[in-house]
Amino acid sequence: MEMKIDRSIEIPFEESIGYLRENFAGKAHEIAVVLGSGLGGFTRHLDEKESLSTTDIPGYPRSTVIGHSGRIMSARVAGRRVLVFSGRVHYYESASTLHAAVTAIVSHFLGIKVIVLTNAAGILNETFYPGDLMLVKDQLNLTSRNVLADLHFPVGNVNPIYSEPMAGLMYEASERAGVNLKGGTYVGLTGPSYETPAEVRMYRALGGDAVGMSTVHEALYARAAGMDVVGISCLTNYSTGITSGKLSHAEVTEIGARVDTKFSGLLTAFIGSL
Ligand code: HPA
Repeated sequence: MEMKIDRSIEIPFEESIGYLRENFAGKAHEIAVVLGSGLGGFTRHLDEKESLSTTDIPGYPRSTVIGHSGRIMSARVAGRRVLVFSGRVHYYESASTLHAAVTAIVSHFLGIKVIVLTNAAGILNETFYPGDLMLVKDQLNLTSRNVLADLHFPVGNVNPIYSEPMAGLMYEASERAGVNLKGGTYVGLTGPSYETPAEVRMYRALGGDAVGMSTVHEALYARAAGMDVVGISCLTNYSTGITSGKLSHAEVTEIGARVDTKFSGLLTAFIGSL
């Protein structure tokens, strides 16, 4: 279902949307791809790339996180015109769900119908390994916030948030690309601190398979706006307490860089099948 945004509030990021439309010369993008921490290597596989820095886009929120280059690109992938967000803004950077969902909001107002949300995530499910890719089948939004409330959306059903037909295409793409794609539930938290061992035990008990600090508000907004939502988690590390090592953001971005080949292969195969 598509829920209508409350017209009494202004279109969020209207200036940014206008600027992108102008600078990408009105090109019609079919798909949006949001690249998570350490996954920016995908941008090397883009054809006919035009790139803007988010710092030059009026009204666009700033990201300060290492591993997020803060660029928006218009390019071709497997013959499709794709809008690529290299880097995103996290809830913990400004405590704003609208900032956290800016990629989805901008994509919607540019007329894009499919959004692929990728992220780096910690492993909760012990059958998974660092370097695995996981299709997000559902989410646990444990941020205690909902971007749809902040945008005055009415009560409504957004299930399933993650498109089942798109999931089917993603599994087919994984076979063609020779990638062993896992599947599971993504737990979305505010961050910025990593979880405690007690929290990790709780998230596992709740049915979470991977945990991270992004994606859930983008997915909620995109789905409510009538887009098809696809989620891919790059599992970079075991969550706190599952192994004894100390987790760092450097480890997260390093694994992201190592999975670049299979991640990019999977995404390209998927986009080619749309
Ligand atoms: N926890 C939360 N977010 C993350 C993690 C983690 O272990 N790894 C990558 N992003």
